[in-house]
Amino acid sequence: MPRQTKLKSFRFFMFLIFTAMLAINDTQANKLPESHLVIHLDQGDKKINRNIYGHFAEHLGHCIYEGIWVGEDSPIPNTRGIRNDVVKALKRIKVPVLRWPGGCFADTYHWKDGIGPREDRPSIVNIFWGGVTENNHFGTHEFLDLCEQVGCEAFISVNVGSGSVREAAEWVEYVNFSGKSPMTDLRKKNGRDKPWKVKFWGLGNETMACGGHMFPDYYSHIYRQFNTYMRDYPDSEIYRIAAGAYEDVEFKWMETCMKMIGEHMNGIGLHQYTWNDGKRAIDFDENEWYRLIRNALSIEGYIQGNITIMDKYDPDKNIGLLIDEWGVWHGVESGTNERFLHQQNTLRDAMIAAVHFHIFHEFSDRIHMANIAQTVNVLQAMILTKDEKMILTPTYHVFDMYKDHQDATLLSFSLKTNEIEVAENKDREYEEDEEDLMKPFKKDRIPQLSATCTKDTNGNITISICNLDLEDSVKLTCEFRGGNIKNASAKILTSNDMRAHNTFKKPKNIKPVIFKDYKIKNKSLTMTLPSKSIVTYKIQ
Ligand code: AHR
Repeated sequence: MPRQTKLKSFRFFMFLIFTAMLAINDTQANKLPESHLVIHLDQGDKKINRNIYGHFAEHLGHCIYEGIWVGEDSPIPNTRGIRNDVVKALKRIKVPVLRWPGGCFADTYHWKDGIGPREDRPSIVNIFWGGVTENNHFGTHEFLDLCEQVGCEAFISVNVGSGSVREAAEWVEYVNFSGKSPMTDLRKKNGRDKPWKVKFWGLGNETMACGGHMFPDYYSHIYRQFNTYMRDYPDSEIYRIAAGAYEDVEFKWMETCMKMIGEHMNGIGLHQYTWNDGKRAIDFDENEWYRLIRNALSIEGYIQGNITIMDKYDPDKNIGLLIDEWGVWHGVESGTNERFLHQQNTLRDAMIAAVHFHIFHEFSDRIHMANIAQTVNVLQAMILTKDEKMILTPTYHVFDMYKDHQDATLLSFSLKTNEIEVAENKDREYEEDEEDLMKPFKKDRIPQLSATCTKDTNGNITISICNLDLEDSVKLTCEFRGGNIKNASAKILTSNDMRAHNTFKKPKNIKPVIFKDYKIKNKSLTMTLPSKSIVTYKIQ
């Protein structure tokens, strides 16, 4: 056969193979589960308070000490004792507000122990968190310096459990008053001339538990007393936050507080953790991936239950609900102090953070703030540190990818997606009443996709979507109504490994990268979302 003809037949043969491969691919693509998202670009009125992306840093384990505060003489680069690397990372995700000093610690904290020359500050025992010595080197001035360096608002939680009304009143005066008074003289003597004008003040923390084991009506009386003396100063009106329930699934706490102190508060807290039964963050199988995500999603019913009660007493939605502690609570990493709550952070945790935001957005006409627990080295942390080293967790990357949702308006959308059945854990023995209490909130299925869509004041749209499925990619068609879109860019956080996490040896093992598997037309966006992925689009 002449060489030319041979080549032609070879080319034809290759063409056939290529066409066959395309056909197979196409059949595979057609087999992919399909979902449909309709977004109304001209509809939506709930503004997402940027404080929903808030944080929480407690004197617990290595959150404050080593994680944030290293002291001025440390070889670790710092500004007035505060780590530069951590501040830079927190600025990047636009931390809007930081809650401090606790947590349970707050109700043992006497703020005057933490002011003045550091060498003169008394030490105390951190009774809740490992009985370690707290030297009070990180106090009011250091915390507010941290907030100024990060560029965020401060949220101070006042000691109601073991503190006095006088202490609380004087703390507000010290921090917020600009006139002449014993407290402002003291502040000036300690090097700060102008008041900081802190807006957010919490009156106690978990007062039904570590904050005093009170009953709701007793707490309500105490609240009224503290609240009377914590004053608004000229140009410094405070936002008063009642200590809310801690997984009180019977909602008694909310009912009593709304009835007895509703008119004296601006907001009320609510703590809801996603418990992982003492298991480490990186030890899980496929079933546990789904179960933990299902548990996290159950926060929706819990929030709704509390909001229903709030609506009864405050139908105009003036009082804010603040989810001022949330996140996944795993067992500690081996070799670490049980009471330091140090845990790793995987792609599953990132997914859980993302779906929390989708839920918070839905309730953003009531939720004024949320504070993930906690910022550095504790629970579902953004950042892990080891001496001078620092790594960013997958959860950090979600905060980074989602930052454009801050202060944007939630667009009206509907998502049609498949569901995934969640197998129950047959090995686990539940406490007698535990299962019953949480039952109404837990579902036996989770959606394959979860999404949220917002528009900022310049008309820029941000869409975030999670594919919660461990195996299947999903074809998603996103249809826009009430407007056109011009261009889009996207980032994805994913990995082949559901347990993917960052370590000091491999700090960039999992991080967001550019995502290109989509097509855009005037009124629609089509994409293939890989399994276990989080994708955020910026669209104009
Ligand atoms: O975030 C850890 C602890 O969890 C807090 O100190 C407390 O408020 C909650 O129980």
